[in-house]
Amino acid sequence: MKIGICGVGTVGASLISLIKKNRDEISRKLEDEISISQVASRRENPQCDLSGINITNDIYEVAKNPSIDVLVELIGGTEEAKDLVLLAVKNKKHVITANKALIAMHGHEIFSAARQMGVCVLFEAAVAGGIPIIKSIREGLVGNVITRIAGILNGTSNFILSEMASKKQPREFDEVLKEAQKKGYAEADPSFDVNGIDAAHKITILAMIGFGIAVEFESVRIEGISEIALEDIILIDEFGFSLKPLAVAFRISNGISLRVYPAMIEKEKVFSKVDGVTNAVLVEGSSVGETLYVGPGAGGDATASSVIADLVHLSRGSKIPNEGFLELKEAPTIEESSIETGSYIRLDVQNMTGVMASISSVLEKNRIGIESIIQKEVSESIARIAIITSIVNEKVLHESLRQLGALPAVISAPTKIEIFKS
Ligand code: HSE
Repeated sequence: MKIGICGVGTVGASLISLIKKNRDEISRKLEDEISISQVASRRENPQCDLSGINITNDIYEVAKNPSIDVLVELIGGTEEAKDLVLLAVKNKKHVITANKALIAMHGHEIFSAARQMGVCVLFEAAVAGGIPIIKSIREGLVGNVITRIAGILNGTSNFILSEMASKKQPREFDEVLKEAQKKGYAEADPSFDVNGIDAAHKITILAMIGFGIAVEFESVRIEGISEIALEDIILIDEFGFSLKPLAVAFRISNGISLRVYPAMIEKEKVFSKVDGVTNAVLVEGSSVGETLYVGPGAGGDATASSVIADLVHLSRGSKIPNEGFLELKEAPTIEESSIETGSYIRLDVQNMTGVMASISSVLEKNRIGIESIIQKEVSESIARIAIITSIVNEKVLHESLRQLGALPAVISAPTKIEIFKS
């Protein structure tokens, strides 16, 4: 198997070094010799030893190189990556990519071209780093109707929230983000991580293959973690929950819902113990029930491990149709009014008599129960009230927050964080 690699960043460098280091072992598993025929790199990467490899600075040269069977796309971005992949496909090369944005935004066009040319486009490395989640859904769970997929899919966000919640030494958001960038976890544009875009790309892909439907990336409701305040993390902990950056896709008879949001998870649940850059994916199938996959979600070696898994898959000749993308049917997006959830609400209020009565009255009017409550004095004149609500319709919750925010004693917009039930 002769491969061409485009892009020698964190993942590309790890892939080249893994192939060099484990060539015999990989070739044995591939039942074929693996060799890197060409690498396209525009910048020097001191982490990567390219000696003995044919180098070009023209990515398209790799896509046209007749001696290459498989092009590994690791350049990132969407437009140029799409042109590169389509050119490789046109030249009858299989493609392996770690590019979640590319698959989430242009998957349909790419898979349709690949079907026409009789080649495969594989993307195990695009979701959840080293966890073989695509194969688990496509193959291991093929006998199931998938009803729900929920994941901690962005390692950088999970790393940031875990460090901010650290009991030993809680750290500020910016400082932890810098460390995630230094460690190679974060995207080139880290706002994709903290604003939830990266996780939204990944849940779009998982929903497409899990549900076998056409999912528009634009239909994902996205809420990042950059607005999370340390005081909320502390209160959430006191209520017995952890805060996790979740991406959730589920379907019910009238449609699908796709969301990325910071969610509270009861501390005794496995999901809440998944810390640092680790990812976790829960997949609910009609026959198997809930299954859970945990592992490293970012970093060069972990992601390169998934690229190699795709190489082995191709070489074994496993028939990987682009079947998840065949004749996909559009599914309607579920309205807010059919989603029910328990929630945390934080209100900073003027410390005066009758405040709690007015808050209770709003909640009562909207039939929202109080499961637990914590009250703290911030200063002589300001109090902080945090509430865990009963399960409530999302639309009703939003309207109640509007009413609470309008109370004269409430001094800033109420904070709301939802609870995820697994
Ligand atoms: N920036 C991504 C993350 C890398 O933090 O999860 C892996 O896709």
